[in-house]
Formats: sequence, structure tokens, C-alpha cells
Amino acid sequence: MHIAGKLVVVTGGASGLGYAAAQVLVAAGARVALIDRDAERVQAAALSLGSAAQAYVVDVVDAQGVSDLLAALGQLHGLLNCAGIGTASRTVGKQGPMPLQLFEQVVQVNLIGSFNLARCAAARMALNEVDEQGERGVIIHTASIAAYEGQVGQVAYAASKGGIVGMTLPMARDLAGLGIRVNTIAPGIFDTPLMQAASEDVRRPLIAATQFPKRLGEPREFGELALHIMQNSFLNGEVLRIDGGLRMPAR
Ligand SMILES: NC(=O)c1ccc[n+]([C@@H]2O[C@H](COP(=O)([O-])OP(=O)(O)OC[C@H]3O[C@@H](n4cnc5c(N)ncnc54)[C@H](O)[C@@H]3O)[C@@H](O)[C@H]2O)c1
Repeated sequence: MHIAGKLVVVTGGASGLGYAAAQVLVAAGARVALIDRDAERVQAAALSLGSAAQAYVVDVVDAQGVSDLLAALGQLHGLLNCAGIGTASRTVGKQGPMPLQLFEQVVQVNLIGSFNLARCAAARMALNEVDEQGERGVIIHTASIAAYEGQVGQVAYAASKGGIVGMTLPMARDLAGLGIRVNTIAPGIFDTPLMQAASEDVRRPLIAATQFPKRLGEPREFGELALHIMQNSFLNGEVLRIDGGLRMPAR
């Protein structure tokens, strides 16, 4: 798909991977609608991107709020789901079983929030005329390599990201007849506020276990992959790892 002039919704656009991807998309000529629950940061992010960006304060789990917003945005060709939360809690810890609410919250935001955006975005994309490739839109989810190699304490996060991996192919199949592609990016360890919040004890072994290059991923590298997926019409129903060859150990 040629994205110049097209509108792409980026959730979690206030920070980290979503913001970096928005920068790359705008540089490639797209317009972006940044969706985030952090009002101050999403407005600052949109302002920094200039007239090609608009900020919207919505929680991705809000069924009606997301549906209303996407309907109000007008023609939409791309969705990049980056909103997500992490947690560190074991199935059974010193205080007993993990509070069920914690597990539910992570699955709610990461998995159900991603689906909520996708269902509403696809319904809007279905209204588009097909382009010269027969396409009406592109959806990209963000999982994590924790979907495959979740570490100790990542049970809720890994389950939520595994759900995203699992829904990628059936969603691509559901939407194929509409000319809408669906792919997922599974990032390794990237230098964003989410990872900056992790302790050195967490970061150091992960960088050591990365094959090459031995560093954190740069958010721009994630954004460039998202742009490529948008542009490459033959990429569909796939999960792409971007991780410097990292396979995470148990701890
Ligand atoms: N940084 C990494 O190393 C890494 C690795 C693998 C996967 N990921 C995934 O990439 C995505 C982006 O991560 P990041 O590192 O940029 O994180 P980040 O914390 O920098 O940004 C996440 C953004 O999502 C927003 N958000 C969270 N919950 C929301 C909700 N319910 N509704 C609307 N907005 C919400 C936050 O306000 C924040 O702006 C996440 O899904 C994360 O799980 C990140």
C-alpha cells in the first residue's frame, strides 16, 4: 500500500515504539491519529509531529469510545496497535496466588484492546475503495518475543501477547475478502520507557543473550519494520520477530 497522504491510527502513540513508528510514518508522508490514555503526553507527541498528526485521548479497552472515535476520523487505511502494559508477577508469589485482577488487566489492555481497535478499524477500512493492489487497509499488532519465551514473572504478559500471535492468522483470514492485511510484530528488547523502567539486573542479561548487535533495539528500527509491512502487499497473516536473535532464558 502506498501510504503517502493516508491516515494511520497508532495506539500507544504517546510513547516508545508507537511514537517512534508515528515519526517514521509521518516522514514517509502518512497522516497519523495518535491514540493514548495519557492526555498530556499524547498531545505533546502530536504537537512535535506537526500538522500530519492529531492526538486523541481514549482507552483502548473502551468499546464505545473507540468505535465512536474511529467513525469520526473519516477515511482510514492503517492501524498500528502499540498500546500495551507489562507486569512482573508470578503465578504463586510470597503473598499467595497472583491476584486474578492483575492477570485480567494485562489481558484486557494488551489482547482485548488490540482486538477492539482492529474490529472497529477493519469496519472503517471496509468502506474504502480498493487501491491498485486490491487493498483496502493494513492492520499491525504488537506482540513480544515473550509470546514464545515468557520469563519467570511474565505469565500474564506472555499470555496476552500469545493471544495476539494466535489471532493474527485468523484475523487475516477473516479480512482477506475485504482486501485488508493483518500482521504482527514481535519485538525483542527495545530502548523505550517501558524497558527503561526495568532494573539493570533485568536489562543486562537480556542484552548479553542478544546475538547481534549486542544492544537494545532502537524504536526507529521497529517503526521502519511497521512502515515496510504497510508498504509490502505480499506480507499477510505473519508474525515477524525483530530481536537481534535474542531467545530469552527463563530468568
Ligand atoms: N519496549 C520493549 O522492549 C518491548 C518489547 C516487546 C514488546 N513491546 C510492546 O510494544 C508496545 C509498546 O511498548 P513501549 O515500550 O513503547 O511502551 P510505552 O510504555 O513506552 O508506551 C505504551 C503506551 O501505551 C499507552 N497505553 C497503555 N495502556 C493504554 C490503554 N489502555 N489505552 C490507551 N493507551 C494505553 C501508554 O500510555 C503509553 O503511552 C507494548 O504493547 C509492549 O508490550 C515492547
